[in-house]
Amino acid sequence: MKCDGGYHGHSDALLAEAGSGVATLALPGARGVTPNSVRDTLVVPYNDPEAMTTVFSQHGEHIAAVIVEPVAGNIGCIPPVPGYLNHLRSLTREYGSLLIADEVMTGYRAAYGSVTHALGGAFDLICLGKIIGAGFPVGACAGRKSLMEHLAPQGPVYQAGTMSGHRFAMAGGSAVLGRLSPGDPYDTLGGLAAHLVTGATEILMEKGIPAYGTHIGGMCTLFLGITEAHAHDGVRKADTALFGSYHAHMFRNGILLPPSQFEAVFVSAAHTMADIDRYLTVLGEWSPHQHHA
Ligand SMILES: Cc1ncc(COP(=O)(O)O)c(C=O)c1O
Repeated sequence: MKCDGGYHGHSDALLAEAGSGVATLALPGARGVTPNSVRDTLVVPYNDPEAMTTVFSQHGEHIAAVIVEPVAGNIGCIPPVPGYLNHLRSLTREYGSLLIADEVMTGYRAAYGSVTHALGGAFDLICLGKIIGAGFPVGACAGRKSLMEHLAPQGPVYQAGTMSGHRFAMAGGSAVLGRLSPGDPYDTLGGLAAHLVTGATEILMEKGIPAYGTHIGGMCTLFLGITEAHAHDGVRKADTALFGSYHAHMFRNGILLPPSQFEAVFVSAAHTMADIDRYLTVLGEWSPHQHHA
């Protein structure tokens, strides 16, 4: 089971999106993915504890695992509503399913280590990537010994890759992880991202442009044309034409943002308050071609 809008890499069974209805059997989410490859995947709305309960009550004994981005990142940054991660934990425990935290985006970025842990949640398996490779291609999964022993060569679950354990990625990642600590640079990153979204939301409200800023650690999103969203349905209402005008203005003025409303923005350890202030100054000079009603 996965959440609508959750992205878990280029794996056919998980390149699935929601069909109609609250909690549904999955539809292929990309060309080339056949209906049969997503037949074993259920899709539920993110941040909706009741939908999750409903699907478990219907399919509970067949659900092997739930995979979730604890802070959604591939629909823009949407933090979990209070209690959501704990709800997932207790439901999966009750039905004997595994809970997989996909922290490829959030791990060591939104918090030191796991953002699920930082938010008080727990999981059985965790997927990591990106930050842990210090810019080199890397992926990792981890969990308690009894689960990891299922992987080959100890166990029957095959896993291998030409670049697995690549020495450059391992050396780079190890060097970066050794320099991180729970507060450093996470406190600074959190402060910068908070300043960015709070400042930006205020500026846009003054211009009469609806805006919704989210952030967790140094991960943030400024949604345009909406004032609230907790899941894929909500963020879909964001005004992408307005985003295009905003992106073009910022780009022309030397501020390079992800080129999609639904890609999270990451403040990095190289950024300073002066950079964020410059972003806000440039934003203040934006006059959208298309005003939102
Ligand atoms: C949450 C999440 N999971 C998995 C992946 C896949 O990672 P990779 O592209 O390294 O396979 C991504 C990539 O963006 C991601 O954001």
